[in-house]
Amino acid sequence: MKRCIAITTGGGDAPGLNAVIRAAALAAHRRGWEVLGVRRGYAGLLNTEETIPLTRDNIRGIAHQGGTILGTTNRGDPFAYCERGETTPRDRSDEVVKNFRQLGLDALLCVGGDGSMRIAHKLHQKGIPIVGIPKTIDNDLSGTAVTFGFDTAVKVASEALDSLHPTAEAHERVFVVEVMGRYAGWIALHAGVSGGADVILIPEIPVNVDAVCRKIQERERSGRHFSLVVAAEGARLDGATVTREEAKPGGVERLGGVAERLAERIAERTGKETRSLVLGHLQRGGNPTARDRIIATRFGAAAVRQVESGEFGVMVALDPPQVLTVPLAEASRMKTIPLDDDTVLTARDLGICLGDE
Ligand code: F6P
Repeated sequence: MKRCIAITTGGGDAPGLNAVIRAAALAAHRRGWEVLGVRRGYAGLLNTEETIPLTRDNIRGIAHQGGTILGTTNRGDPFAYCERGETTPRDRSDEVVKNFRQLGLDALLCVGGDGSMRIAHKLHQKGIPIVGIPKTIDNDLSGTAVTFGFDTAVKVASEALDSLHPTAEAHERVFVVEVMGRYAGWIALHAGVSGGADVILIPEIPVNVDAVCRKIQERERSGRHFSLVVAAEGARLDGATVTREEAKPGGVERLGGVAERLAERIAERTGKETRSLVLGHLQRGGNPTARDRIIATRFGAAAVRQVESGEFGVMVALDPPQVLTVPLAEASRMKTIPLDDDTVLTARDLGICLGDE
């Protein structure tokens, strides 16, 4: 049966979004279906002119590129929509349903993180046939073993540690590197372990600055006059996260600054020259690794097979070696690092300080 499906990318971008768009479009074209791309996440469904046909030509050669050809926003929740400058969110979800029907669509593929999956779940309850596709560099989405974008972010952060190592050693300095990870420290943990960090700080474990300084001083005494500290942006110093900007209506607060704050405290306590740096969006913007491209491509194709099966309200997910589906309700739950996670235990076995002892 000929169908017309739409695809949208919402929330913060993640390397692999273009690969998923390409894969879904190719799989749909092979079935003789039409594909529309919706620009700027769910916000694009508030205006039917925000859609573009995804033909073979405009998806050619994009799988290796970062970003998303459809654009994205993390301010596009149609259930609490706020135009720039507006302060009171409005529920515009009925317009999304109306536009979906007016465009003659048979299904919507939503690529996004936990926020996008929650919205997808609510839109499905309003009658839109939806299949979710998980993405986020933070890897903090339950229901899937991993999200695409994570591997690329870890690679960027781990390579940054490789570059800092020799200069830290040469100048006998401490470096505190801030990586992304708002509620979960997956990037910090994996980059820290792979990049040989001495201290790894994650949102799941409150930071005791004394413990961090003790580790640095221990290294000093054993003749290691430099240290590398990796801190997730959501790590809690004295029980609180460090915020750069309060939340705007319809948005979330902007975290940032934990590395700088911690570097000052380490310098004060240990007397060591301590520098900080923030990797920020370098972790999000680059070309996806081969692993992320493959996960994204498999998710795109699996989502189209799911549309063909006629079962909606689910998210495609990786349960190695399979790609399967989980209910959207389950998918939107946050996945933080369990304290008995094997990589946490490994870090402790290697003597890496996790900020608590
Ligand atoms: O969710 C992905 C993420 O990169 C978080 O780690 C980070 O807190 C947030 O997005 C930053 O979003 P923005 O680019 O909108 O400031």
